Amino acid sequence: MESITMIGSPKNAHETFLPNGTNGIKEDKTTVGILGSGDFAKSLTIRLIRCGYHVVIGSREPKCAADFFPHVVDVTHHEDAILKASIIFVAIHREHYSSLWDLKHLLAGKILVDVSNNMRVDQYPESNAEYLSSLFPDCYVVKGFNVVSAWALQLGPKDASSQVYICSNNVQARHHVIELARQMNFIPIDMGTLSSSREIENLPLRLFTPWKGPVVIAISLATFFFIYSFVRDIIHPYFKNQQSDFYKIPIEIVNKTLPVVAITLLSLVYLAGLLAAAHQLYYGTKYRRFPPWLENWLQCRKQLGLLSFFFAVVHVVYSMCLPMRRSERYSYLNAAYQQVRWQCQSSAPT
Ligand SMILES: NC(=O)c1ccc[n+]([C@@H]2O[C@H](COP(=O)([O-])OP(=O)(O)OC[C@H]3O[C@@H](n4cnc5c(N)ncnc54)[C@H](OP(=O)(O)O)[C@@H]3O)[C@@H](O)[C@H]2O)c1
Repeated sequence: MESITMIGSPKNAHETFLPNGTNGIKEDKTTVGILGSGDFAKSLTIRLIRCGYHVVIGSREPKCAADFFPHVVDVTHHEDAILKASIIFVAIHREHYSSLWDLKHLLAGKILVDVSNNMRVDQYPESNAEYLSSLFPDCYVVKGFNVVSAWALQLGPKDASSQVYICSNNVQARHHVIELARQMNFIPIDMGTLSSSREIENLPLRLFTPWKGPVVIAISLATFFFIYSFVRDIIHPYFKNQQSDFYKIPIEIVNKTLPVVAITLLSLVYLAGLLAAAHQLYYGTKYRRFPPWLENWLQCRKQLGLLSFFFAVVHVVYSMCLPMRRSERYSYLNAAYQQVRWQCQSSAPT
């Protein structure tokens, strides 16, 4: 809850997140610049201060922006911020990169960290980082930190999403930012040159990719077992004995399908591990790569397990509904019987 209030009122929060005794600034640490004063800039500032860095914010309206940052942060104009820092995070949207054009001479030789994301996969012909690099060829553009949300930045190392992907054409600049990421308690992944930036920018837009395969498998299994139960318990008795059991479709047939799908999905979770173990035994080593299909299967075990749990829970709910439905049916029958009896009695000659 503390983290939520930080975005809205960081002035109230600074006492709690500044490192003890240092007033937030370690003398031997670099000054990090941030251009922009939006949500990402605020959260990044908090994380950097927690790790002992000095932060300077470059804003178009430094007086207004200063209210949203802790007192230890230097909130100033773009020009001033650029002069004070050698590593500068560009925390503004791609559409506004060109507004920094007039500061080109000041930015020359600086490390620019592009943190931007897009709204769609492959939205532009070139990645945002490559675009920034083409605007400022005298800067060392590094792509990184875009996979971390402003919220996760504030949470600190306790948040599980701690990997950041970093790439740049300049090896030194890349290593500098990788070291910075490490100091900020992230796990940096070196992605090589700036040509990887498009892939890195697409990563946050592909969050649900691991779910696609398991969901398709679960739906296919559910459809198959539903059709099987429908044919076996409804269609077959109907043609064989003229027995109409169509009322069973919404509850009984569905409830027969659910546990079968749940247990099949669960078996798929364990089967992947068994096949992987067999692969390792066959090749006599655990350092040989699994075939791609098995690797993908192993990676989506968590999703398969969660879907199995989901089907099992729905099965429990359905099973509880079934007796209630039966007792409801009996009470209707009973009421009908009472009514018929009453009518018979009242129409009988006295
Ligand atoms: N929010 C997230 O969770 C998140 C996560 C990952 C990556 N990012 C990336 O981080 C960047 C900033 O995101 P944000 O959420 O902080 O956006 P935001 O809240 O809209 O802030 C953007 C900042 O850009 C500056 N700005 C706005 N219009 C401008 C213009 N015409 N010229 C120059 N500067 C302008 C403003 O700062 P001043 O008024 O002080 O100049 C503004 O505060 C984006 O590229 C985004 O894709 C955000």
